[in-house]
Amino acid sequence: MSDPDPPLITAEHLSKEYRMGREVVHAVRGVSLSIRRGAFTVISGPSGSGKSTLLHLLGCLDKPTSGSLNIAGENVSALSDRALSNFRARRLGFIFQSFNLIPVLSALENVEYPMKINRVPADESRVRALEMLQSVGLGAHISHRPTEMSGGQCQRVAIARALVMKPDLVLADEPTANLDSATGEHIMALMHELKRQTGTAFVISTHDPMVASQAEQKILMRDGCLQANG
Ligand SMILES: Nc1ncnc2c1ncn2[C@@H]1O[C@H](COP(=O)(O)OP(=O)(O)OP(=O)(O)O)[C@@H](O)[C@H]1O
Ligand SMILES: [Mg+2]
Repeated sequence: MSDPDPPLITAEHLSKEYRMGREVVHAVRGVSLSIRRGAFTVISGPSGSGKSTLLHLLGCLDKPTSGSLNIAGENVSALSDRALSNFRARRLGFIFQSFNLIPVLSALENVEYPMKINRVPADESRVRALEMLQSVGLGAHISHRPTEMSGGQCQRVAIARALVMKPDLVLADEPTANLDSATGEHIMALMHELKRQTGTAFVISTHDPMVASQAEQKILMRDGCLQANG
C-alpha cells in the first residue's frame, strides 16, 4: 500500500564536492533526510558546516555530486537542466539574506516577475501580485523600488515574490541576517502566518536562535554531515 502522507522531500546520500584547484571541499557529505509537507524546517549549524550548500541542493539551484533527491513526487536528480529550471520556477520559491530584488523594478514588478517567467497572463499576474503585496502588508508601497524601502520591507517583497506562484516549498537562506532583531521577528511571524494560510513548506537556514526556536522540524549540520534530524 502506498504511504498516505509521503514526505515532501526525500534525500538519499546527498553529497556536494567543490574542486578548488587540487583541493576538494566536501561541503555536504552523504546527507539522507526527509521533510514533511507544510512543515517549518530550520537548518542550523556552525559557519561552513554546509547549511547553504544543502539548501541550494534542496532548492535545485545546484546539482549534487552524488545522491538522489525527490521533491513532491518528482525525482529531480534525474531531470535535465531545462526540466529542472522549469520545476524550480513552478514549484519552488526562494528568499535570500540580501533580498535579491531587481533594483530597477518596483515592488509590484518584482512580485510579477516569477509569473512573467511562468507565462501567467499580465492582467492575472497584476491582480495576484497586488493581493500578495497586500498580504505582506505592503499595499501602500507597490510603486517603490528596492532602494526606496527598508530592509524589512524589501524582505516582505521577497516573501511575496517567493509565494506568488503558490510553490510547494520555499527555501530561505538566513532570511533575517540583514535585519534588526525586531524586524527579523516580524518577518518570521509573517512567514509562519503565510505557511499556515497556504500550506507551503519552508526550509530555512540560520544562525539566529530566534529563528531556530520556531522550527517544527530541525536539521543540524556539522562538517557537511547531518548531526540530527527531528
Ligand atoms: N562555490 C564554492 N566553491 C568552493 N567551496 C565552497 C563553495 N561554496 C561553499 N564552499 C565551501 O563548502 C563548505 C560549506 O559552505 P556553506 O556555505 O554551505 O556553509 P554554511 O553552513 O552555509 O556557512 P555560513 O553559516 O557561514 O553561511 C565551506 O567549507 C565552504 O568554504
Ligand atoms: Mg550559509
